[in-house]
Amino acid sequence: MRMNDIATPDHRFGGEDIDGLVRVHKKNGPLQQAFYYSPTVFAADMARIFGRWWLFAGHSCLIPNPGDFFTWKIGNEPVLVVRDDAGEAKAYYNTCRHRGSRICTSEFGHANRLVCPYHRWTYGLDGKLLMNTKTDFGVDRSELSLHPIHIRNAAGLLFISLADDPPSFDHAFAEITRRLKPHGMERAKVAHTIDYTVRANWKIVFENNRECYHCPSNHKEYVRATYDVARDQARTDPSLAPALDAAIAQANARFRALGLDEGDVSSNMTGTFFRAHRTPLVEGYASQSMDGQPLSSLMGDFKEPNAGTLRTTVFPNFWQHSGSDYAAAARITPLGPTTTAIRATWLVDKDAVEGKDYTLDRLLPFWDVTNRQDWTICENQQIGIGSSRYRPGPFSLTKEQNVAHFLEWYLREVSGPGAARKSA
Ligand code: FES
Ligand SMILES: [Fe+2]
Repeated sequence: MRMNDIATPDHRFGGEDIDGLVRVHKKNGPLQQAFYYSPTVFAADMARIFGRWWLFAGHSCLIPNPGDFFTWKIGNEPVLVVRDDAGEAKAYYNTCRHRGSRICTSEFGHANRLVCPYHRWTYGLDGKLLMNTKTDFGVDRSELSLHPIHIRNAAGLLFISLADDPPSFDHAFAEITRRLKPHGMERAKVAHTIDYTVRANWKIVFENNRECYHCPSNHKEYVRATYDVARDQARTDPSLAPALDAAIAQANARFRALGLDEGDVSSNMTGTFFRAHRTPLVEGYASQSMDGQPLSSLMGDFKEPNAGTLRTTVFPNFWQHSGSDYAAAARITPLGPTTTAIRATWLVDKDAVEGKDYTLDRLLPFWDVTNRQDWTICENQQIGIGSSRYRPGPFSLTKEQNVAHFLEWYLREVSGPGAARKSA
């Protein structure tokens, strides 16, 4: 057993009354221990949050041509995302209508027809079964199409919902699409991915993402490039605000001159589950990189570097930082109460050439280093929360409001009307 292996106190958990736990939650603090360890809560999270809300599945540039597909498994649901003959991204449950085999078995691939490996039932890219089943099986093939999944393509980000009747995504879709479009994500390519396995509950991972209180002591590379810490400091020491406001105003004027949206579209309003926020980088930084220099050729519509960073966050499983030169994204896939898979993806312009326009040696460290620092924090927190002496402590009223907002959203969805609809 490694030093930091998690001795999961799972035996203490199971069969919790989730609504009861929600009721005793104290606002402006983390959750009760069971939320981070219990298999019962985890099952509820998968059914009520991940089984219903809009999930980031992948980038559309992964499937540039008709017939290109990728697969993903979220909870027990195998998902297939494919570009159809009309060029639209479509999503289906990756389960055959005959005896249920998984149809596409690789993570990435290309197929003109979707052929089940078991008995070779064959489907078109529109999900329709192509063979005649009426005579031999007694069921018309029109009743045996692949089960569709709701999917939206927000300027190159593919979001799916497993719900029959998903929550509205229209506002998020419109804002993300408008703000992300100049970044040319549809004309991007994946330069690299890293799969991390973090031994922490997915909510610990997401909570960590929602604040930068931990940044000064944990992210010396990240904080050099951004105003996050200065912003936090100005909230507690108003004398610092004028200089910061002036720097941000200057950067925003530059964004406007470039035709870019600035600032924050979302807020901490009740129910808001996304944000798309362009933030400036500090003086001397044209990119979120170790030395401030761009890491690849310009993406999308950009004619010059330094477009700040467009931070796009969608509860419960996605964030991305997009600059003028590259984008770095995270997709969260909960695997169990104390285990979370995170796929980090680095994207550059599709015509960028490795070795000439970018090198992985320069492209990866800024976020890979920051990610690993975060995963260490998350695993430490998971272990500490396992203590019999754990009691939720107070959040900072100036630096952790976004965590409180995330938890407010989560608690309502795991226990509220969404839950009722799902179990109805
Ligand atoms: S299970 Fe797919 S063809 Fe039989
Ligand atoms: Fe962090």
